Amino acid sequence: MSLARKLQGVIVSLFIFFLPVGTIPSFAQQNLNGVVVSDNLLATRAGMEILEKGGNAVDAAVATAFALGVVNPASSGLGGGGFMVIYQAKEKKAHTLDFREMAPKAAVADAFVREGRVVPELSRSGVLSIAVPGEVAGLTEALKRFGSLPLETVMSPAIRYATEGFPVHPQLFNAVERHLTTIRKLPNFSRLFLKSDGTPYKEGETIHQPELGETLKAIARKGPRVFYEGWIAQAIVGQLKKAGGVLTLEDLKEYKPVWREPILGSYRNRPVITMPPPSSGGIALVQMLNVLEGYQLNQFRHNSAPYLHLLTEVMKHAFADRAKYLGDPDFVQVPIKRLLSKEYASWIRNRISSEYTHPAGFYGLAPFKPKQGGTTHFGVLDGEGNAVSSSLTINTRFGAKVLVRETGVILNNEIDDFSIRSGFPNVYGLVGGEANSIRPKKRPLSSMAPTIILQEDRPILIVGASGGPRIISATLQTILNALDFGMPLKKAVGSPRIHHQWKPNKLLAERKISRETRNSLARKGHAIKIMPSIGAVQAILVDGEKVSGEADPRKTKKRRGK
Ligand code: GLY
Repeated sequence: MSLARKLQGVIVSLFIFFLPVGTIPSFAQQNLNGVVVSDNLLATRAGMEILEKGGNAVDAAVATAFALGVVNPASSGLGGGGFMVIYQAKEKKAHTLDFREMAPKAAVADAFVREGRVVPELSRSGVLSIAVPGEVAGLTEALKRFGSLPLETVMSPAIRYATEGFPVHPQLFNAVERHLTTIRKLPNFSRLFLKSDGTPYKEGETIHQPELGETLKAIARKGPRVFYEGWIAQAIVGQLKKAGGVLTLEDLKEYKPVWREPILGSYRNRPVITMPPPSSGGIALVQMLNVLEGYQLNQFRHNSAPYLHLLTEVMKHAFADRAKYLGDPDFVQVPIKRLLSKEYASWIRNRISSEYTHPAGFYGLAPFKPKQGGTTHFGVLDGEGNAVSSSLTINTRFGAKVLVRETGVILNNEIDDFSIRSGFPNVYGLVGGEANSIRPKKRPLSSMAPTIILQEDRPILIVGASGGPRIISATLQTILNALDFGMPLKKAVGSPRIHHQWKPNKLLAERKISRETRNSLARKGHAIKIMPSIGAVQAILVDGEKVSGEADPRKTKKRRGK
């Protein structure tokens, strides 16, 4: 059997294609297609289709990303933004692309205040919650710089899904069902996501998005400018203006993705490449790994109370710093070096008690001297060892709940990721201060943490998650499970997780963390809240000759979760 034949359509677990051990001796051969993992089968297929056409990891990533926006429009899409971490094997070089949304020029904090009070709904849905979308600019920029196939080719699966339709999958069905009351009130959503009798399309029934198909075709033929300056821009601005929005044609025209210096850390001597601000994810992740590498984690029983207490304390430190220091680097000076120094990590270790937790004021860099939602994550590894780790979002499900009828584009509500007022929590309960205040043309802080971990210049773990701030803790725990506890990827992704984000002072624990462990953590002073799920991770693990990919069962198998 030819190699191509062997590779064709290998589906190992529900949402993952990989090169099975035994069939393929090593992924690192030039003629191997590679691995794609996403939280949606059709999106994964889109990426694989492009790898099979001879595309590289970036070609496949761009195809997967455009497809994700069509097949799960509740989580990401042309109206949103994201981050991409790219590792180029030949040059042994990492690149990070920021295509995060940006506040419109006319955005001001006062717009979200009525009679002296912040009104959370204003930043969470509707026209004022919308930031300038970055996805189209970002994906086309990534393709231009590192892709090898034409835009029309890599966009063709997404165009096909939009125009020919695709069968409704459980995630989409659940997203629609959970927002049914809202969707019924919004004619632009109802005509796409509800049948003529007003009921949602059932799983397996076909959904078409003809306008989105035309929008994608236009971008594929004419490039990103048609989105930012052409008829698509005009349609977006026209509809928003009528509804009292402040986003202008100029905002769209001026939007630019930015290549940023990656955050380069190390965990037990393995290089860690991840996303810099305006993501907080990369810094928080590396900061926590720095602290944790001072412990022999596999001496703990996995998910025992002492282990989870340690993780919680580490999370509380990282999230305290997130709240105080992190924001758009084009606007604020983020003390990256200090936060990521091994010296700071060692100072944090000295402040961690194995016996008890502390009040909120104890945590963070300040005393250190001398020094529901949407979102989706996917990864690609090609046969040459090039890797992409990318997270995309329109923020919470269906973003601003504004669908531009003529274009089929659902717009993000990323404005809520700003700290609208110091200490006032956003939809995820996250607080922040001046560093993440809303300013014209500023990018809101994100938690997305697309990450690639190397060993001897080869990617061994490509990982990231969806789930707001829980992205950071879910990604962290998956890394520890795989690298410290040596778990197979399925177990590393599926194991029960915890999350602590400093404020609110609550330790979230998945139900499967045993009652005994939870009681033991409570005795250390943690206020425990049981959660059905914490984050949704997609990961690719290379272990010697074995390559595996895993999509989080929390998102792909269950009825709820992000
Ligand atoms: N919108 C969620 C995040 O970027 O963290």
